[in-house]
Amino acid sequence: MSNLEQTLSIIKPDAVERHLENEIKEMFKNNGFSIVKEKKIQIEKSEAEKFYKVHETKPFYSDLCEYLSSGPIVVMALEKENAVLGNRELMGATNPKDANEGTIRKKYGISIDKNSVHGSDSVENAKIEINFFFKD
Ligand code: CMP
Repeated sequence: MSNLEQTLSIIKPDAVERHLENEIKEMFKNNGFSIVKEKKIQIEKSEAEKFYKVHETKPFYSDLCEYLSSGPIVVMALEKENAVLGNRELMGATNPKDANEGTIRKKYGISIDKNSVHGSDSVENAKIEINFFFKD
């Protein structure tokens, strides 16, 4: 049965700063994702705090929000069959040192903070996160 989904992807400041935007987009396209919405923006720390609210009790929350708002990012809605899981597989583990060969974070990630990309962790959060950046 067909299960077309959308998921939110963010190319984070470390990757945009290193001009990896197009290479990372090619990886999505080569893996069957369509980029159905896309914009390059820089957000305020207060917006990053809203976006990452699920992490607000974590010790890394403030640094995480500081970092996401530190430079331009590319936010995209990616579409494919089972897009949420597929994107998580393509990104690899949160910490680039644990990520499998061939994943985006293995290839481009620098550290657990500068891990180049964010992707929604569930179908429910994908809807919330896409709506956060692309309110129609
Ligand atoms: P991301 O998928 O964007 O979701 C939350 C981010 O928090 C995560 O990627 C990491 O970049 C960052 N982070 C920093 N420290 C940790 C940690 N100890 N565990 C998980 N995520 C962390």
